Amino acid sequence: MKSTEGTAAAKRAAGERAAAAVVDGDTVGLGTGSTAAAAIRALGERVAAGLDVTAVTTSHQSRAVAREAGVPLTDLADTARLDVAIDGADEVALSGAVSGSGGLALDGDETLAASPPLIKGGGAAHTREKIVAGAADRYLVVVDDTKLVGTLSHPVPVAVVPTAAATVERHLQAAGGTPEPRDAARKDGPVVTDDGNLVVDCAFGDVSEPATLAAELSAVPGVVEHGLFVDTTDAVVVGRDGDATLLSVE
Ligand code: 5RP
Repeated sequence: MKSTEGTAAAKRAAGERAAAAVVDGDTVGLGTGSTAAAAIRALGERVAAGLDVTAVTTSHQSRAVAREAGVPLTDLADTARLDVAIDGADEVALSGAVSGSGGLALDGDETLAASPPLIKGGGAAHTREKIVAGAADRYLVVVDDTKLVGTLSHPVPVAVVPTAAATVERHLQAAGGTPEPRDAARKDGPVVTDDGNLVVDCAFGDVSEPATLAAELSAVPGVVEHGLFVDTTDAVVVGRDGDATLLSVE
């Protein structure tokens, strides 16, 4: 698994709080990455204690974690609707979501005035993660507090049909981005996603209009899915060492 900044304790705190929100009978979408894995393990503990759920996963990685944790699985291909999905993120932008100018103290649960935009895809699973997010009645994002920003600026992962890599890169440059094909860490050549696509990480500097950029990227021929998640999130669970805060969209 790729390593990210936050501590294991912060991820565990976020994962446990999110898993506690799942109720008997739920069908649950399970995201990919280290924080989603913490939530899957916490859900597994609840299943061992008697919770009755069925889950769908978003990658080979989340499937392996869920199997090991003992979470009963079904196939995403057979699932049209989910009660809840729990997923990580690389950045969560709070500037437009928090009313007032003081920001968030994170010393208690809060209500957000708007759904915060995200950048996802650090684990190259954002295509299935977006499918799962779109199928879920409630999309819960689990992060440690290093992921909270005012404005999004992380490079946007873009999953691309392999034969379109060159043309997509040209479109991304025309849109003001700096595209960089993602190379694999322990394999020569590119990252190939679980669905057989390539990934281009595209830096745009500060993304002040995420919805506009998201629409622009979706319109590029050959783009399968990009990692901007706009108007998708219902709540963010922010973990810190030892505790977690729930930010719910009103
Ligand atoms: C995978 C993702 C992950 O949720 C995102 O990269 C965050 O991962 P982590 O919790 O390990 O920091 O979008 O495609």
